[in-house]
Amino acid sequence: MTVKKLFIKTYGCQMNVYDSERMAESLADLGGGEGYVVTETPDDADMILLNTCHIREKAAEKVYSELGRYKGLKAAKPDLKIGVAGCVAQAEGEEIIRRQPMVDLVVGPQSYHKLPQLTAKAGLGQKALDTDFPEEDKFEHLKARPKAKRGPTAFLTVQEGCDKFCAFCVVPYTRGAEVSRPAERVMREARDLVERGVREITLLGQNVNAYHGHDGGLAGLIRELAAIDGLERIRFTTSHPNDMDEALIAAHGDCEKLMPYLHLPVQAGSDRILKRMNRQHTAEQYLGLIERLRAARPDLHLSGDFIVGFPEETEEDFQATMELVRAVRYGSAFSFKYSERPGTPAAERAQVPEAEKDDRLQRLQALLTQQQRALQDAMVGREVQVLFEKPGRQPGQMVGKSEYLHAVHVEAPGIGPGDLARVRIESSGPNSLKGVLLPS
Ligand code: SAH
Ligand code: SF4
Ligand code: F3S
Repeated sequence: MTVKKLFIKTYGCQMNVYDSERMAESLADLGGGEGYVVTETPDDADMILLNTCHIREKAAEKVYSELGRYKGLKAAKPDLKIGVAGCVAQAEGEEIIRRQPMVDLVVGPQSYHKLPQLTAKAGLGQKALDTDFPEEDKFEHLKARPKAKRGPTAFLTVQEGCDKFCAFCVVPYTRGAEVSRPAERVMREARDLVERGVREITLLGQNVNAYHGHDGGLAGLIRELAAIDGLERIRFTTSHPNDMDEALIAAHGDCEKLMPYLHLPVQAGSDRILKRMNRQHTAEQYLGLIERLRAARPDLHLSGDFIVGFPEETEEDFQATMELVRAVRYGSAFSFKYSERPGTPAAERAQVPEAEKDDRLQRLQALLTQQQRALQDAMVGREVQVLFEKPGRQPGQMVGKSEYLHAVHVEAPGIGPGDLARVRIESSGPNSLKGVLLPS
């Protein structure tokens, strides 16, 4: 077998992480004695694949500067193939090859099952491009997943695409319309992952709570997954507030394997801005939803995404965001300066000056960091359950995650990746907690 080396660099969201895994698997055995193994460095690669993100201008520009860096490698090794996958591939298509002619292959997120053919075409020295939105479920046409042992946590994409069209966002254009994978396929893949050592599955979707591949929606799928022996934890991301139905709220209350952590982006706290963003809900509706979730699961940790400096955002609008953050008390959060995306409605509107955006971002991040730290510090003295993932820096130490996604360091002789244990938290550092093992 001629084994070639594949270097994949992944940008953007967790869905790209999952897709990169599946792409690597699909190239592992191409038949006729050909195949790729993954290498950790571009230097010895026969193929470099960038799995890209188009969400903000900076993310997209990174791709071109990264490609520039490979010029020397390509000159030294003319057989080296360079491919661009992901959301930039979908958004820019052929333009990528025009701007960077050394690119051999461009493949959009809905065409990954065509990667082996595209690779073969690139191997013949032709440019290979596919950014179609085919009808079929690409995951069903991708190679079956291998049976090798793997780490205790895994992502599993169950839903893709978005029909929401928030005024700032490129995702509906790069990932297409909402599609759900049928529950039985998800269940099959989940059982397979558990057999290979996975203990925690994070279900992924651009709007994962709009999942409709199960009669009972996402809550129905979660309950069915919870019945799998050996699967200990279930998480899901990312959710839209308007798709958070009663069944899913209830699952947070009584489904033990569903972890008490929820990423529920709101973007802004001003109704005027929410409306212009086309978010289709008010700040009050969002806060009401949080209240119902907390009634079902009082210790729920919330996480969110925020955009500051959306077109026409005033200081007063921004203050409404700060107020909403104060009301919710987030366990963690991501915040961004609004970035103009070509082709989206908001890009056409009056922009907030950059200095103003910077200033608002700083103030918001200071508040969010303070909240994050306060919630993390409040874990000291509490008992949590930790799923151990890997050895820590000190000998005998292991690192894992609590139910609330905090990283926890523990002196844990005899404990290995995939083990679950009760831990009492003793101290809180800048990014993680430290604790002691409790007798089981
Ligand atoms: N589907 C998810 C989020 C997808 S993008 C959801 O609806 O919540 C992840 C985050 O990137 C968004 O929540 C938003 O906060 C941010 N984002 C998207 N477009 C952006 C833009 N044009 N400028 C700045 N941030 C943006
Ligand atoms: Fe983008 Fe809005 Fe869809 Fe999220 S819900 S992916 S922010 S359009
Ligand atoms: Fe980026 Fe595409 Fe994900 S734009 S955030 S990689 S869906």
